[in-house]
Amino acid sequence: MGYRIAVVGATGNVGREMLNILAERQFPVDEVAALASARSTGDMIEFGESGEQLKVKNLEHFDFAGWDMALFAAGFSGYARKNIIANPNCSTAQLVVALKPLHDAAKIRRVVVSTYQSVSGSGKGGMDELFEQSRNIFVGDPSQPSHFTKQIAFNVIPHIDVFLDDGSTKEEWKMVVETKKILDPSIKVTATCVRVPVFVGHSEAVNVELERELSADQARDILREAPGLMVVDKREDGGYVTPVECVGDYATFVSRLRDDPTVEHGLSMWVVSDNLRKGAALNAVQIAELLGRKHLKKAA
Ligand SMILES: NC(=O)c1ccc[n+]([C@@H]2O[C@H](COP(=O)([O-])OP(=O)(O)OC[C@H]3O[C@@H](n4cnc5c(N)ncnc54)[C@H](OP(=O)(O)O)[C@@H]3O)[C@@H](O)[C@H]2O)c1
Repeated sequence: MGYRIAVVGATGNVGREMLNILAERQFPVDEVAALASARSTGDMIEFGESGEQLKVKNLEHFDFAGWDMALFAAGFSGYARKNIIANPNCSTAQLVVALKPLHDAAKIRRVVVSTYQSVSGSGKGGMDELFEQSRNIFVGDPSQPSHFTKQIAFNVIPHIDVFLDDGSTKEEWKMVVETKKILDPSIKVTATCVRVPVFVGHSEAVNVELERELSADQARDILREAPGLMVVDKREDGGYVTPVECVGDYATFVSRLRDDPTVEHGLSMWVVSDNLRKGAALNAVQIAELLGRKHLKKAA
């Protein structure tokens, strides 16, 4: 017997990936409800290999009684009740997957991270704006930014989410507090988050200072064995991963791993992942799988 699962935000970038991943991983489902706002109530969404059609229902009128789990991907103004498990921010998720094995091996003191975040990280609206703006620029039509604060096509924007009093952005703040919360409160983190004209896939240039010595070669061996990671680091033309290559993948990719001689026990690396998958939908389904295996009666 499987689960009755509701996917909230099922018409969005992350919600659609959640449906894909539930089907791909053969998550034991008896019934799936696709929920969104009144805007898309009644729309049809495909689920699974058989092409089952799900009719989108309005979250506002949905009764969760009798449903085993709900995967939420509808923004932060959602439900603040108990039994809710939070997913980390997309840029944090891939970062901590790469940092954890290094922290276990040689204890991380400080992390400096600069992100190159794709437009899908800001929802359907972000992808539409990059597409429309690129087309308009090519054909010479005017194009004013509306979803982003400045032109995103053929440009980069050092601003994701709102500004805070100290001059950082909320996205940068999230990377700091979530990394500490997930790995270790003693780790110092500083982040600069940048939106780039890439449709899917976040990249991060990461500099790590460790407490104990760990060479790049040792780190590479450790990361090769770590769960959820793929090391592609050939030190030759094309011997590294870029965002377009990670789309649709479950893994977080590590490339360009090297010693950083400017600090004691320093390492630098390039970390890339599909933000809609490990950064959101896959992580949520993996949590649901764990929940099923460890805490719910029906075994997943
Ligand atoms: N994209 C990423 O890389 C990423 C990574 C990590 C976390 N997240 C988080 O995941 C969430 C969804 O992101 P997304 O990229 O999928 O956004 P999106 O493409 O803009 O989709 C938003 C979804 O939420 C639904 N929705 C919005 N307001 C709603 C409401 N009041 N009631 C019910 N449904 C509502 C929308 O339904 P309609 O079709 O009816 O408008 C749509 O299905 C956000 O919280 C985002 O921060 C995203």
